[in-house]
Amino acid sequence: MNWLSDNINLLALIAAIVILALTVMVAGKYIKQMKTDKSTGELAEENWDGIGEYKNELPSGWAYTFLATMIWGMWYFTIGYPVNGYSQIGEYNEEVATHTQMFESKWANADKQTLQEMGEGIYLVQCAPCHGIAGDGMDGKAADLTVWGSAAGVLDTIKNGSKGLGYPMGEMPGGLLDGDAAKRVANYVANGMKGEQPAEFSACAGCHGADGKGMGGMAPDLTTYGTPEFVADVLNRGKKGFIGTMVSFKGRLTPVQEKAVGTYILSLSHGE
Ligand code: HEC
Ligand code: HEC
Repeated sequence: MNWLSDNINLLALIAAIVILALTVMVAGKYIKQMKTDKSTGELAEENWDGIGEYKNELPSGWAYTFLATMIWGMWYFTIGYPVNGYSQIGEYNEEVATHTQMFESKWANADKQTLQEMGEGIYLVQCAPCHGIAGDGMDGKAADLTVWGSAAGVLDTIKNGSKGLGYPMGEMPGGLLDGDAAKRVANYVANGMKGEQPAEFSACAGCHGADGKGMGGMAPDLTTYGTPEFVADVLNRGKKGFIGTMVSFKGRLTPVQEKAVGTYILSLSHGE
C-alpha cells in the first residue's frame, strides 16, 4: 500500500468514498420519495405527449448563482484571463528577475579578489571558447586579452586601428603614430590619462576629444581604457573586429558579472 503514503492520493481516496456515500444516500432518498409521494402543485399549460411541468418559481439562490456565473464569465473572458492569465514564461522571467536582483545586491560591494574569482568562472564558460583558456586569443581567432587593456594593447590599436564597436565616429584608422611618440601616447592612455599629456595626443584628440572622453559618445572614452567599465561597454556593444565578430553580451550578463569578468581579464594584461 505504498501509494497510500502519499497525502494527495489519500485525500483523493477519502473524497471519492464521501462522494459515493452521498450519491447513494441522495439517490436512495429520491427513489423512496418517488414511490410514496403524491404530486402537488399547479401544472403549466404546455404538455408534451402527456408529460407536464409544474409552475415552480425559479429558486432565488439558483437564479443569483446563475447570474453571478454569467457576470464572472464575461469578466474572466475579457479582463480576468487576458490580464492576469498565468504564463509559464512570465513566471520564469519573474523568477529570473528576482534571482538577478538578489544576486546583484548580494555582490554589489564584492572586493576585487571575489570579483576576480567570479570573473574567472564566467570567463571560462562565456569567453574562453573564442579567447582561449589563457586569454591569448587562440592564434588570432579573437582579441589577445593578455595584451588588450594595457599599454601594449593601446600600442596595438594605434598601429592597426580598431573597428566594429559601432561608435558614430565609425572606424579608427591604423598608423596614426609610430615609434616613441606612439609609446608615449600608449602609456599615457593606459594609465588612465593621468599626468602630463604628451603633445602627440593631438593626433587622437580630433576624435576622442582633448580630454579623451570620446566627445559625448562619438568615440570610446579613453579615460576608462583598461577598466572593467570599458570592458562592460565592449560587452554591451559586441564587436565586428578585424579577425571576426564577438556577439553582444547585453542582457546575458548582469552588471556585477560584467564587472567581474572585466576585472578578471584585465588581471591577465596587468600581470596580477
Ligand atoms: C578618426 C577618429 C579617431 C582618431 C584620430 C583616433 N581614434 Fe581611437 N577610436 C576611434 C573610434 C571610432 C574607436 C572605436 C573603434 C571600434 O569600433 O572598435 C576608437 C577606439 C580606440 C581605442 C579602443 C580600442 C579597443 O581595443 O577597444 C583606443 C585605445 C583608441 N581608440 C586610442 C586612440 C589613440 C591613442 C589615438 C591617437 C593616436 C586615437 N585613438 C585616434 C576613433 C579615432
Ligand atoms: C564568439 C567568439 C567570442 C566570444 C564568445 C567572446 N569574444 Fe571577445 N572578441 C571576439 C572577437 C572576434 C574580438 C575582436 C577581435 C578584433 O579586434 O578583430 C573580440 C574582442 C574582445 C575584446 C577587445 C575589445 C576591443 O574593443 O578591442 C575584449 C575586451 C573581449 N573580446 C572580451 C570578451 C569577454 C570578456 C568575453 C566573455 C564575456 C568575450 N570577449 C567573449 C570574439 C569573442
